[in-house]
Parts: sequence; structure tokens; C-alpha cells
Amino acid sequence: MRTPSQAIGYIRRLFAPEDALLRQMEENLKARFPALYPIQIGAEEGKMLQLFIRLAGVKSIIEVGSLAGYSAVWMARALPEDGVLYAINNDPAHAVLAREHFAASEVAHKLVMHEGNGMDVLPTLEARGPFDMIFIDADKPGYIGYLDWAERHIRKGGLIIGDNTLLFGHIWDEAPPQGEGAPSRAAWQAMREFNRRLADPERYLSTLIPTEEGMTVALKIF
Ligand code: DHB
Ligand code: MG
Repeated sequence: MRTPSQAIGYIRRLFAPEDALLRQMEENLKARFPALYPIQIGAEEGKMLQLFIRLAGVKSIIEVGSLAGYSAVWMARALPEDGVLYAINNDPAHAVLAREHFAASEVAHKLVMHEGNGMDVLPTLEARGPFDMIFIDADKPGYIGYLDWAERHIRKGGLIIGDNTLLFGHIWDEAPPQGEGAPSRAAWQAMREFNRRLADPERYLSTLIPTEEGMTVALKIF
């Protein structure tokens, strides 16, 4: 997770202190994939996801994009004992680390890892649905494909949640972002449409929560 602002630091310390396992998971990610350490969700977001899971009575979760399993462990801890989280991981090296972390956790029995691209893995899970929640935190141009799938396989009253929906400070750009380090045109188009669709009050009770990265949270009402 990123170095926090003062506000986020305060929230983390008071509401989302990490236990030894979560701290170890962070250390392992930092040691093995230092460039990816900042893209993991923050502890305060893990805690927020837990709250949504309990509020909505979620028992089954799909996570598209698991990295080292940090968000999955936060979420699994809020699931009931017979709940399940299907984690999808498209990078074999990340999946190895995530599996280690799952095995080391007290919620291993709620966590199932699937390796591969989200759009290839999701169809293989359909028979177990409909699901109560999906957390989308993978390749940004892929968000529309994941949303199309979610609209068919998340139950009415379930949650569709997406990370990074402020698109690194470019979501409000009225034309494709330009310049060094800017998100791709494909990512910009996808994220604009993702938020537009989830903002439809006929289909969702939703908002974009201004976390550091932005998290769109939508209760599916159709
Ligand atoms: C990136 C991806 C993420 O999911 C995130 O939370 C932050 C950054 C990225 O691809 O740069
Ligand atoms: Mg993210």
C-alpha cells in the first residue's frame, strides 16, 4: 500500500491496524515485487470492504486481480465460516506468493485461487453462481468485460466494486489523457464507461468513494 496522507494514516492507525500476517504479507510483496508494493490496496480499504461484506450479507465473492492476496485475506476474514472467495490471478509468480499467503492465513478454507486471465477464468466459475459480490482490481482496459460478466452473474442485491476508478487522476479528462505516465486510451475509455454504467440509478444504488485511488461501489438492484 502507498505511503498515506495524514487523513489516511489516521484512519489506518485507528480503524485498520494490521496484524502480524498482514504485515508479513506486505513485507513479502515489498521484498519480491518492490515495484508492485504501492499498487496493493490500503489497510483502510480492506477494512471498508469488510464493512460492505457484512452490511450486504455477502457469502460468495469473486476477486479479479489478486496480486499477493492481501485484499483477499481482508475480505475472507469478513465472510462467514461457510463463505468463499474465488481469487483470480493472471501472473504465475504472483499466484505462488498469494497461495503461500492464503495457506499461512486462518481463512485458507474460504480462499480458492484460480490462475489465468479474468475473462478466461470467469466462465469456468459460472455454474457456482450467482455470486454476492465481485471486486474488480485487475487490468484497467478489461473492466468493461468484467462488468458485463458481473451484470449477468452477481445476484440482485449483490455488490459490484471496482478499484482505481479515479484512474490515477485522469477520470475527469474529457479527451484521452496524453503524456508520460498517463493511462492508456483503452484504460480511460473503459473506466469512463465503467463508472457511467454503474452510476445508472435505475440499475444501481452506487457511488464512487474518494479513497486515494477511488473505489466505485454499486449495489445491484436489477
Ligand atoms: C495500478 C493498478 C492498481 O490496481 C492500483 O491499485 C494502482 C496502480 C497500476 O496498474 O498502475
Ligand atoms: Mg487497484
